[in-house]
Amino acid sequence: MNWANQHCLLTGASGGIGQAIARTLAESGVQLILQGRNEQALQALANSLPGTHQIVVADISSSQGRDELIRQLARFPAISMLINNAGIAPFGELQSMSDEDLEQTIQTNLLAPMALIRALLPAMKKRSEAYIVNVGSTFGSIGFACQSLYCASKFGLRGFTEALQRELAGSSVNVFYLAPRATQTTINSDDVVAMNKALGNQVDSPELVAKALKAQLQQGLRRKFIGFPEKLFVRINGAFPSLVDNALVKKLPIIKKFAAQHAKEILV
Ligand SMILES: NC(=O)c1ccc[n+]([C@@H]2O[C@H](COP(=O)([O-])OP(=O)(O)OC[C@H]3O[C@@H](n4cnc5c(N)ncnc54)[C@H](OP(=O)(O)O)[C@@H]3O)[C@@H](O)[C@H]2O)c1
Repeated sequence: MNWANQHCLLTGASGGIGQAIARTLAESGVQLILQGRNEQALQALANSLPGTHQIVVADISSSQGRDELIRQLARFPAISMLINNAGIAPFGELQSMSDEDLEQTIQTNLLAPMALIRALLPAMKKRSEAYIVNVGSTFGSIGFACQSLYCASKFGLRGFTEALQRELAGSSVNVFYLAPRATQTTINSDDVVAMNKALGNQVDSPELVAKALKAQLQQGLRRKFIGFPEKLFVRINGAFPSLVDNALVKKLPIIKKFAAQHAKEILV
C-alpha cells in the first residue's frame, strides 16, 4: 500500500473513531477529505493533523444531503479510498423508538454507505487500485437486545459489503469490512457506558480501532472483527445461535434496566 498516493474520503471524521482514523492515516501520508456536520470540529481536526487536508460539511441522513456531498467532491482530487465510518446508535427497546429514529439509523448507517459507494465506484474502477472500508460492528453479526435498529443497519451493512466484495472480485476496487466492539466514544451514552461496565464488556480506545483499520488495509484482510471473546461469539452466533440466545437472555434484566433509565433521561 502506497499511503502517500491515497486521497481518502472519511465520513464521520469528527467523531471518536473518525478522529483516530484521520490521525493514523494522516501520519502515514494519506491526504484526507474529512466529512461530518460540524464545520468547526472538522476544521480544527484538519488543522491539527500533519499534512494538508480538506473538509466537507454534509448531512448524509437524507438523499439531498448525500447528493450535495457528492456534488462537493468534484472540487477535490479523485478519491482512491472511501471509509464509511459515520454512524449513529439509538439505544432502547423498539417500542420507545420514533419513526425518525428508524429512518435516521437506516439512512445514516446503511443507505449512506450504499449511495456513496455507488456514486464513487465508476471513478474508483478506473484506478489501478482503490479501497473501500465499511465500518460495521460486532452488532452487525450478533443481535443484541435494545440495539435492534443499530443491529438491523449493521447486519445490512455487513451483507451489503460481502455481496459487493464478491461482485467486485477481480476488479481494482478492494472492499473491506471492519467490525469494532464497544469503543470509548460519545456514540455511547452514559447509560450504555454503565451497561457495558455492568455486563463486563471490554471497551477499546478509538486509537486501537484506527490501528486495526490500517493493519487490515495493509494486510488485505477483507473482514476484521476486533476483540476477543467478541470474534468467537460472532462465530458461535453464526453456527449455533441458540447458545447465544441462552447467554444473552441472562443479561436481559441488566440491559433493560439501563434502557429504561436511558428512556427516562431523554424524556427530561
Ligand atoms: N463506539 C463504539 O462503541 C462503536 C462500536 C462498534 C462500531 N462503531 C462504529 O464506528 C463508527 C464511528 O462511531 P464513533 O464511535 O466514532 O461515533 P461518534 O463519536 O458518535 O462519531 C460519529 C460520527 O458520525 C457522524 N455522523 C453522524 N450522523 C451523521 C449525519 N447524519 N451526517 C453526517 N455525519 C454524521 C458524526 O458527525 P457530527 O460531528 O456531525 O455529529 C461523527 O463524526 C460508527 O459507524 C459506529 O457504528 C462504534
